Amino acid sequence: MSRDTVDNRSMTTAEARSVLVDPMAYADGRLEQACAVLRRDAPVSWVEAEEFLPFHALTKHEDILEVERRPDLFQARPRYKLYRRRDEERFTAARSLVSMDPPEHTEYRAVAAPWFHPRNLRNFEETVRARALVAVDSMARRDTAYDFVSEIAMLYPLDVICSMVGIPEADRGLILRLTLENFGSEDPDFRPLTTTDDRAAVMDFAHYFLKVIEDRKAAPTDDITSLLVHAKVKDEPLPLQDLIGYLVIISTAGHDTTAATIAGGLRALVEHPDQLRRLQTEPGLIPTAVEEMIRWVTPVKSFMRVATKDTEIGGQTIAEGEAVLLLYASANRDDDVFGDPDRFDVGRTPNRHLAFGHGTHFCLGARLARLEARMFFSELIPRLRHAELAGEPELIQTLFVGGHKRLPVHLDVA
Ligand code: HEM
Repeated sequence: MSRDTVDNRSMTTAEARSVLVDPMAYADGRLEQACAVLRRDAPVSWVEAEEFLPFHALTKHEDILEVERRPDLFQARPRYKLYRRRDEERFTAARSLVSMDPPEHTEYRAVAAPWFHPRNLRNFEETVRARALVAVDSMARRDTAYDFVSEIAMLYPLDVICSMVGIPEADRGLILRLTLENFGSEDPDFRPLTTTDDRAAVMDFAHYFLKVIEDRKAAPTDDITSLLVHAKVKDEPLPLQDLIGYLVIISTAGHDTTAATIAGGLRALVEHPDQLRRLQTEPGLIPTAVEEMIRWVTPVKSFMRVATKDTEIGGQTIAEGEAVLLLYASANRDDDVFGDPDRFDVGRTPNRHLAFGHGTHFCLGARLARLEARMFFSELIPRLRHAELAGEPELIQTLFVGGHKRLPVHLDVA
């Protein structure tokens, strides 16, 4: 079933709860529908599903924000995201920023934070602009239909983050494949190619980064890997496992999400030609348009937290040790916060979306993601003479990071 042909009969709250653990539901639009039902009828919902540990699903913006503002009451350990019981061991063992809590998280985050600080990112603006230009120029050379996801949206942010991390061009295809397998492992199209073992993608990453780490230890450069390899926490270098965890999260979170924003953003413009025209006559709206694309797409559907003691959210009791699923995708369509939330509005202000989360774990790469999307659309919009879909778009099956799998387009770019 495509997103546009979703059966629009009303869903019961029981059905809506079960949809939250169905990876297909994101791809066919039922997740959006389920979130709307839960926001209205059961904003804090207890979900029990066979293959998953139970959790409370939070669908209102206000409730999610309340959890994010209290890292003392709601922590990332031991369940920072929605996964199947069978994957529990793998994810509870994972050590990366998203799975850590203060004070350890604070110390670890401080290691890479200067890299993503506006002062440092300003040094990369021209490089990012040049890469955006290469992407748009390559679009201008095409006169037939193509898949915008695999040919443009995936490659440009990958190019940016790999050059920052210090991954040679020859290895970028490998990083792309590993990320897709790692983030999209619920989708049969992106299962590891070499083995059916889900751990394979993670192990491949670890082996790959071990080599990069060894290289930078021997010969440091000015990339993120060199920064991490030579960083100290409590006067000690980061253990190897943590270095790998850091590099994996930066390299994977650093492109898939931005690619999803650029592809979903382009589709939104194609499907809302009035908004495209508005952007073309008012290019000053690019920054608000990018923010609206990020809200519209909300690539990261959710993260999870676990209550450190008995508490209450939205009038519901959350017991110590129980998990809460923060459904950012739902918060970003909450009409208590967004006027006409299902309207794509390139001029939307204010836009208090939660696509980057909030508080302690607020996305470290948010400024980079915005910069990349802004540079891309600033180059593209003035040169885009005509845009149409050239086939049925397809979304990935996922429980975590979403986006388009295919977006066939026909674009006339000057
Ligand atoms: C964390 C979304 C791009 C690196 C997060 C979180 C979300 C998110 C929702 C968790 C926030 C929370 O728990 O409160 C996004 C979206 C992006 C994007 C929607 C693109 C539109 C990037 C980029 C990087 C990046 C380009 C580059 C390296 C990270 C890191 C964390 C993170 C390292 C962990 C931060 C922490 O736990 O302290 N992101 N992200 N992200 N993101 Fe992003």
